[in-house]
Amino acid sequence: MRIAIIGSGNVGSALGHGWAKRGHDVVFGVRDPNKTAATTNTRTAPVKDAAQSGDVVVLAVPWAAVPDALRSAGDLKGKVLLDCTNPLLPDLSGLDVPAGTSGGEIVAGLAPGALVVKIFNTTGAANMTNPDFHGQPATMFYCGDDGGAKGIASGLAGDLGFEPVDAGPLSQSRQLESLCLLWVSLAIKQGLGVNFAFKVLRR
Ligand SMILES: NC(=O)c1ccc[n+]([C@@H]2O[C@H](COP(=O)([O-])OP(=O)(O)OC[C@H]3O[C@@H](n4cnc5c(N)ncnc54)[C@H](OP(=O)(O)O)[C@@H]3O)[C@@H](O)[C@H]2O)c1
Repeated sequence: MRIAIIGSGNVGSALGHGWAKRGHDVVFGVRDPNKTAATTNTRTAPVKDAAQSGDVVVLAVPWAAVPDALRSAGDLKGKVLLDCTNPLLPDLSGLDVPAGTSGGEIVAGLAPGALVVKIFNTTGAANMTNPDFHGQPATMFYCGDDGGAKGIASGLAGDLGFEPVDAGPLSQSRQLESLCLLWVSLAIKQGLGVNFAFKVLRR
């Protein structure tokens, strides 16, 4: 699959290098291709060129950069857009979006016609490189309104070794963003560190 990743930081590189290792065609959409080194099995390109070439576009930039990054990406109508961002307040005490909405829904509003799936926002980037916990795959929740796009997102999470779990429509994004707040608070304020992940247990 041709995957364009906007942002090559912690999340973008963990996802991109994981997918490239598994045979996907990965291009990082970056502001300065000279600053970001491609690896042997990935490429870099200006944000617009990368985004327009991808079947799947992954948004992995800081929340404050989302409007600019999506403007730079151009028209994403019909493309699967995986939103990994979290609209966190600077002191990590809550979400920086009005009550009743979510980052995922705001992203959908900024990318008209894109098939938005919220995913890869509920665990740390290191777990995206390695989601295996003693043989148990970490859960990766996702939500969105398009069944086909969710199937692609789920498959890409599975390729990395996650157990994908469908959390419902895109309006569930706020719940997933709150789950990120819980993960961050456990990691930092409660001292769990970054080597833990959420897991759905069934019987
Ligand atoms: N870190 C985590 O463990 C984690 C986990 C889940 C979700 N998230 C969420 O994922 C997102 C990315 O986090 P991160 O930790 O990967 O951030 P990061 O390491 O700071 O990387 C951010 C990337 O975004 C790029 N960028 C910034 N502004 C841009 C713009 N206007 N246009 C295009 N690219 C731009 C940066 O490129 P330059 O080098 O040009 O600045 C950089 O490559 C955030 O929304 C975060 O909340 C993070």
